[in-house]
Amino acid sequence: PLVTTTEMFKKAYAGGYAVGAFNVNNMEIIQGITEAAKEENAPLILQVSKGARNYANPIYLRKLVEAAIEDTGLPICLHLDHGDSFETCKSCIDDGFTSVMIDGSHLPFEENIALAKRVVEYAHDHGVVVEAELGRLAGVEDEIKVSAEDSSYTQPEEVNEFVSRTGVDSLAIAIGTSHGAYKFKGEAKLRFDILEEVSRLLPGFPIVLHGASSVVPEFVEMINQYGGSMPGAQGVPEDMLRQAARSAVCKINIDSDLRLAMTAAIRKHMAEHPSDFDPRQYLSPARTAIKEMVKHKIVDVLGCNGQ
Ligand code: G3H
Ligand code: 13P
Ligand code: NA
Ligand code: ZN
Repeated sequence: PLVTTTEMFKKAYAGGYAVGAFNVNNMEIIQGITEAAKEENAPLILQVSKGARNYANPIYLRKLVEAAIEDTGLPICLHLDHGDSFETCKSCIDDGFTSVMIDGSHLPFEENIALAKRVVEYAHDHGVVVEAELGRLAGVEDEIKVSAEDSSYTQPEEVNEFVSRTGVDSLAIAIGTSHGAYKFKGEAKLRFDILEEVSRLLPGFPIVLHGASSVVPEFVEMINQYGGSMPGAQGVPEDMLRQAARSAVCKINIDSDLRLAMTAAIRKHMAEHPSDFDPRQYLSPARTAIKEMVKHKIVDVLGCNGQ
């Protein structure tokens, strides 16, 4: 069935692990992720961005997720990633999503609160949970680019007021991660002190970590080896993600690693089989690469297998 994150997060918080939230854009990605979660008996969040909805047409992704639930029997949360407005959130809630993110992190504090509060009222009336964000991540999303100068860490002194006035169910914080495949210029650094302070101020409250791909070096190498060019790609080291998963962080967002797995597998297949032209020939290894990568995240990074 489609489920909210309420029970998932309670168990994750108590169990010292995190649930993976994977971005989905097409059938092969959904299949690769859900097959991995089924084999590892893991809780699962599938998230759809506004860009993904525009790409696939809203109805297709929802129907594909429904198909995955029917096929695997897994309880899955269907979540809107980075909702940009009340209207986008409402549209997803009306569509059957069980969770939405309202991303007002670029707004002044009071406006972020007002917007999140409005979404929470509508969402909770419909049995849907809400994630919001305080602080700004650097990096690239479909329609939004945030430069490193415009990014900012979450200010712990704001979190209590934000959560109590909005009624949100989880909170994404900015501690130095960013979206995309180029997260750090030099050494990776995250502000775990901010995470600790936030979780001290909000005991038992689920925290979300965006920009949490590790930008798997093997995939970057494979892409570069087979005709791609991604010099300097770098993600969050897995040990930092393990540390986050043991903490109040209950949801870890992964998109770039799916993109890299898929692209690496397709590039390799294309290079090694230049005469293939049936999409199934290169999408099969792409789907398998996603499945294996997600299994690794579930078992070796998030610790949510068997939960
Ligand atoms: O946070 C952004 C996610 O990676 C989704 O990216 O907006 O390009 O679909 P997108
Ligand atoms: P990555 O780019 O690190 O995969 O982050 C994904 C994300 O935060 C989606 O909201
Ligand atoms: Na956790
Ligand atoms: Zn994000």
